[in-house]
Amino acid sequence: MTELSTNGVVAYTIENGIAWVKYNRPDKRNAQSPTLNRDMMEVLDALEFRDDVGVLVLTGEGEAFCAGMDLKEYFRETEAQGLGATRRVQREAYGWWRRLRWYQKPTIAMVNGWCFGGAYGPLFACDLAFAADEAQFGLSEINWGILPGGGATKVATELLPFRKAMYHAMMGENIDGKTAADWGLVNESLPLAQLKERVTEVANVLLKKNPVALKATKDAVRRVGIMSYDDAEDYLIRAQEAANSYDNDGRKEGIKQFIDEKSYKPGLGAYDKDRVKV
Ligand code: COA
Repeated sequence: MTELSTNGVVAYTIENGIAWVKYNRPDKRNAQSPTLNRDMMEVLDALEFRDDVGVLVLTGEGEAFCAGMDLKEYFRETEAQGLGATRRVQREAYGWWRRLRWYQKPTIAMVNGWCFGGAYGPLFACDLAFAADEAQFGLSEINWGILPGGGATKVATELLPFRKAMYHAMMGENIDGKTAADWGLVNESLPLAQLKERVTEVANVLLKKNPVALKATKDAVRRVGIMSYDDAEDYLIRAQEAANSYDNDGRKEGIKQFIDEKSYKPGLGAYDKDRVKV
């Protein structure tokens, strides 16, 4: 059953442990209006700690993943209300992207179509990203006269080599899903008709992993980038020991099932986590 957010601009369905969260403004190509940003935070809040949600997938209804910020509602109408209103809508937008970057559950962006500018925040916020070959990605800001703000420039430099980031930001040309995968904006690109099946397959692999270890892992990958080797080494020890305080049996069970029971091989797949309740 599909549920709608308060204002109907976000839709979600939970199926077999996967929350399919959709931008639901297809007539506006899922542009991020202040209302949409508020509704998205509401939905992320509602889903984050539900036991029936193991993976969250973010995608778009209709032809667009998300056509970036809403030029009318987010920029023009808000700017007309002054500084306070501008800062408030920025906080709401950046707020849900930040929530998504550090979300409790693993997250996957399923880029089904247009993906512009302000959509790069949530794209980067998702741990993994899969695109349709038919999708179009662009830092279109330069085409309407601004720099790629709202973190978009940072996303480009995090994910792309310098020359590609600079070209992408300065030229305002779009790239398709395949090029986005070649450049590293997404993990993979495949025909739209196969996209959901592939994302489901990936989500199902994640659902079999130890959820405490997954959260520790995704945070570690995001955090160690700016650390020195020694700092990272130390952080990773602390992070694992902190994870142990929530799940002190999972890894012991993982060792037991391999070494004693020989029921699986970690090199080839995950242990049966359901035999120990986290
Ligand atoms: N902000 C506000 N409205 C937007 C929007 C955005 N970012 N993107 C699309 N829309 C609206 C259009 O104004 C139009 O509204 P209307 O039906 O009331 O006239 C509706 O969505 C459909 O858009 P349209 O341009 O007719 O669709 P299309 O399929 O021909 O083109 C795009 C799709 C995505 C190429 C085009 O809408 C576009 O360039 N959008 C802006 C992308 C962008 O630069 N985003 C900002 C990045 S920060």
